[in-house]
Amino acid sequence: MPQDLAAPMDLASADMLRVLAQATTTVAEEHTDVPLPVTGTLPAAIDGLHLRNGPGRFERGGQRYRHPFDGDGHITRLDIQGGAVRYTNRFVRTREYLEEERAGRMLHRAFGTNLPGGLFGNFFQMRFKNAANTSVRWHAGRLLALWEGGPPHRLDPDTLATLGLEDFGGRLDNPFGGLSRRLAPLLPFSAHPHCDDDTGDLYNFGLVSGSPNRLMLYRVDADGRMDEPREQGLERFSFVHDFAVSRKWLCFLLPHADFDVPKAVFGLKTAVGSLKIATERPMQALLLPREPGAGRPAVLTGPPGFVFHVAQAFDEDDGRLVLDVIRYGLYPDFDDFTDLFRAPPDGAMPRLERLVLDPARHSCERLSLGADGAPHAFELPISAPAPLGTPRRILYGVGAPPERRAPYLTSIHRLDTETGQLTTRDFGLDLTGEPILVPGHGEDEGWLLSLVFRADQGRTDLVVLRAQDLEIQAMAPLPHAVPIGFHGCWVPRSALGMPRGD
Ligand SMILES: [Fe+2]
Repeated sequence: MPQDLAAPMDLASADMLRVLAQATTTVAEEHTDVPLPVTGTLPAAIDGLHLRNGPGRFERGGQRYRHPFDGDGHITRLDIQGGAVRYTNRFVRTREYLEEERAGRMLHRAFGTNLPGGLFGNFFQMRFKNAANTSVRWHAGRLLALWEGGPPHRLDPDTLATLGLEDFGGRLDNPFGGLSRRLAPLLPFSAHPHCDDDTGDLYNFGLVSGSPNRLMLYRVDADGRMDEPREQGLERFSFVHDFAVSRKWLCFLLPHADFDVPKAVFGLKTAVGSLKIATERPMQALLLPREPGAGRPAVLTGPPGFVFHVAQAFDEDDGRLVLDVIRYGLYPDFDDFTDLFRAPPDGAMPRLERLVLDPARHSCERLSLGADGAPHAFELPISAPAPLGTPRRILYGVGAPPERRAPYLTSIHRLDTETGQLTTRDFGLDLTGEPILVPGHGEDEGWLLSLVFRADQGRTDLVVLRAQDLEIQAMAPLPHAVPIGFHGCWVPRSALGMPRGD
């Protein structure tokens, strides 16, 4: 029997591409504090704001963005209290968004989309649109829309009005002068900060390419004050989306990347198209002491491939560092994104793996997580809040059935990393957004909130699942379809009364 006939049946490429096209349709309406109908029962303990960010506008003046990550940041806000839900949504009013709204056409080059006009339209246009579309986080009384290539935008948590760029009291001023400062007056602040649930400290980084290439390291305390940024030179250009924080280390998995600067500068390719990541080569694991001056950095040889997201990090008593990561065998070619669904190549699926890094022996051991070697795809991992570096047994994320070969993610997963038991709820052709945990009393208690894009129905539902067993507790349809986004947060109502951080 041919091997493909023995494989379990899965979704057809045409269906996946049709739904992905629906799920990347521009949001045409903004709503303010509208009540949503709820089916099922929302527990009274779910009391606060659920906020999410993702691309919401995919074209401008008739020109569609070439890259799915270029869409303008669109925030959804679900205010949940007393078993009821109220909905607000707003685009982030960045300077670039407002200018393009007025002009009715594309004025700014995006990372994955050049301006019209080829070389003449893009020549030396190396100042890119801040898409403000990757995450939204609440910290020290500030609500921030995040994008890894630039500074955050601050939002009003009640109205979602854009209040302006956040520079943390001038700490994000670009100190490098010359061309670097002209291209980016403010330093980038990535979309993956990690907050210590004990101290309230927020750790983050920004990648500044140039000569030399630099990692900027940030710590913002619980009152919103940022330390002077630390600077770490990199041997070569790299690209990193997320990082790990343990009690002892800040850890970056740096792939072997090449950036074709002339092609990007002359506008012959998009910035994203000029980036090549050699996933057949090992990543470099860069370990920097979490506290400045507390030990020496270490550089280890990691596994090949590419890591978008880190699920957790903790130190063993013997000095080893454990990382649970989502690893890809390849870096997707975003120049033809649809190929990933027409003819998925090997390595296209995100897999959850455990890396055990030993700085003393300069070794990296790679382990699978899950009873059957974690055959299910796993992405957008989350866990219960804890002091950074605390091992967490339960991980949640989105994923897909094991037979899926294309990164089309339709499940919510719960993995017990000790027993390997995977609990999963699949939604068929419907796309699942990152689960956000409303914590209960224990690590294994609480509820998961996900925005599920209903295929062919022109609708998005808030789905509330019990974290312990993924039983659906309640659903609330939004008044319109919301494109599948990236990251969000849960803000308990008790935290909203915190003083503003300035
Ligand atoms: Fe991310």
